[in-house]
Amino acid sequence: MFNVIILTAYPEMFPGSLKYSLIGKALNEKIFKIETINLHDFGIDNRKSIDDEPFGGGPGMILRPDVVEKALLSIAIKQNLNSAKIYLTPSGALLSQGKLGILSKLDEIIILCGRFEGVDQRAIDILGFEEISIGDYVLAGGEIAAQVLLEGCIRLIPGVLGHPESLLEESFSDNLLEYPHYTRPNVWEDSLGKKHDVPEVLTSGHHGNIKKWRLNKSVEKTKKIRPDLYIKKEQKQD
Ligand code: ADE
Repeated sequence: MFNVIILTAYPEMFPGSLKYSLIGKALNEKIFKIETINLHDFGIDNRKSIDDEPFGGGPGMILRPDVVEKALLSIAIKQNLNSAKIYLTPSGALLSQGKLGILSKLDEIIILCGRFEGVDQRAIDILGFEEISIGDYVLAGGEIAAQVLLEGCIRLIPGVLGHPESLLEESFSDNLLEYPHYTRPNVWEDSLGKKHDVPEVLTSGHHGNIKKWRLNKSVEKTKKIRPDLYIKKEQKQD
């Protein structure tokens, strides 16, 4: 079973979105499990504080390293586990599909969710957390980011997806965005009475032409909206 341990000031935010759909089914079927550790249980002094002002001044509060260490030490150590410790932060390395694939093959992920302005850097360095960002924007905390990372990761565990072959053609698998999809009705009449049909090739039954059309659409779309990704693809082919 894939083991997830979340260190957070808001344990009630879990499993959150992870209890729905195919990921929720995997949770019920015990393909993975989530344990939350409440950082407030490890607060310091009689006020049980978990954060303090930044040395050097500046806005916001910083999560204390001693609190993070105590929370981490409360986790039962299991021998011979392939485990990763991740701190979610906008100043981390950008998460990618490749990284999700690597994480999905582990036995355990321990995730530290920041709130406030950040976490004392000593906790990250000394306790061995890898800093990961889910994108170039700033959220109010790491809890939603953790659910994004976990959903992306858990769907890659064998047995979680109903149609595992869909992993082969999805966006990013070859530095290309996925081609557009269409379904019934064949001709859709919108609320203004305008008719929109499906690209003819898709209903032709000609598998070779469909494959070619889809690849063309993928390339066209990637060049237009993700030229950075297309450059990566071309560099890989050289
Ligand atoms: N916490 C706040 N913003 C974040 C981001 N972009 N990625 C990961 N964790 C975060």
